[in-house]
Amino acid sequence: MARWNGRVAVVTGASTAIGAAICRDLVKHGMYVCALARRKDKVDAIRASLFGMPGQLNAVECDITSEPQVLQAYHWIEKTYGGIDLLVNNAGIITKCLLTDDGNTKDLRKTMETNIIGLCICTREAIKSMKLRDAKGHIVNINSIFGHKVHQTVPGTKPLNGMYPASKFAVTAITECIRQELVYLETPVKVTSISPGLVDADILSTHTHSDNELVKFMPKLLPSDVSSALLYAITTPDHVQIHEIIIKPTGEFL
Ligand SMILES: NC(=O)c1ccc[n+]([C@@H]2O[C@H](COP(=O)([O-])OP(=O)(O)OC[C@H]3O[C@@H](n4cnc5c(N)ncnc54)[C@H](OP(=O)(O)O)[C@@H]3O)[C@@H](O)[C@H]2O)c1
Repeated sequence: MARWNGRVAVVTGASTAIGAAICRDLVKHGMYVCALARRKDKVDAIRASLFGMPGQLNAVECDITSEPQVLQAYHWIEKTYGGIDLLVNNAGIITKCLLTDDGNTKDLRKTMETNIIGLCICTREAIKSMKLRDAKGHIVNINSIFGHKVHQTVPGTKPLNGMYPASKFAVTAITECIRQELVYLETPVKVTSISPGLVDADILSTHTHSDNELVKFMPKLLPSDVSSALLYAITTPDHVQIHEIIIKPTGEFL
C-alpha cells in the first residue's frame, strides 16, 4: 500500500458497513479519505475512532443523487487536497418494492438514481481530476453478486429482487464501458468491480421482514472481507488491472 500513502480517496456511502470498513483500511494505510454520505454524524463517529492513524478521514455531507451536491463536494475536495487518486463507488440502496407494486415509480427512480446515475457522476468527476494531473488513479465499483445473476426466488416467498439486480447489472456493464473509455482516453487510470454475495450490513434489514426470514439464516461476509478485496485490487503492479472480483461467503446458495 506504500504507493497510496498520502494520496486522496473518495468513498461514497461511507457512513456504515462496507463503506466504513473501506474508510478505516484506507486511513490505516495513510490515505486522506473524503467520505461522502448523507448522515455526516455517522462518518464523524468513525473519524473519531481513527484518531492516531497515519491517514485522515473527512466527512463530507453529500447525497449522490443530487448533482449539485456532488459537484460541490468534489470542488471542496479539489480545493482542500488538490485532486482525487482513488474513487470507491460504494453508495447503494435496495428498496422493498417489487417491479409490479402499484405506485412504485419513486422507488424505481431512487434505485437507478443512486446505484447508477450517482455512480456515473462521481466517476466522471473523479476521472476529470485524475486526467488533469495524469494520475495513476483507480475507480472501484462496489457491485454485487446480483450484478451477474438474478437470485432464484424460493417458490411461494416474496422475491428479493425488484429493481436492484437491474441496477447492479448496469454497474457490470458500466465498469467495462469505463475501462474501454479509459483506454480511449490514454490514461493509466484503472477500473475494478467488486461483487460480494451477502454481507452483514444495514442494507439487509430491507429484507428481514416476515416475507424473507431466510436472509437472516444465509451465510454472510463481513464488511472487512470486501475491504480486503479492494486493498488487493488497488495494489497490483501498473500492468495488472483486476477487472472483476466475485466474493461469496462459504456455503452461499444465492
Ligand atoms: N450488504 C450486502 O449484502 C451487499 C452485497 C453486495 C453488494 N452490496 C453493495 O455494497 C454497497 C454498500 O452497501 P452496504 O452493504 O454497506 O449497505 P448499507 O449499510 O445500507 O450502506 C449503504 C451506504 O450507502 C449510503 N447511501 C445510500 N444512498 C446514498 C445517497 N443517495 N447518497 C450518499 N450515500 C448514500 C448510505 O449512507 P447514508 O444513508 O448516510 O447516505 C450508506 O453508507 C452497496 O452498493 C450495496 O449494493 C451489499
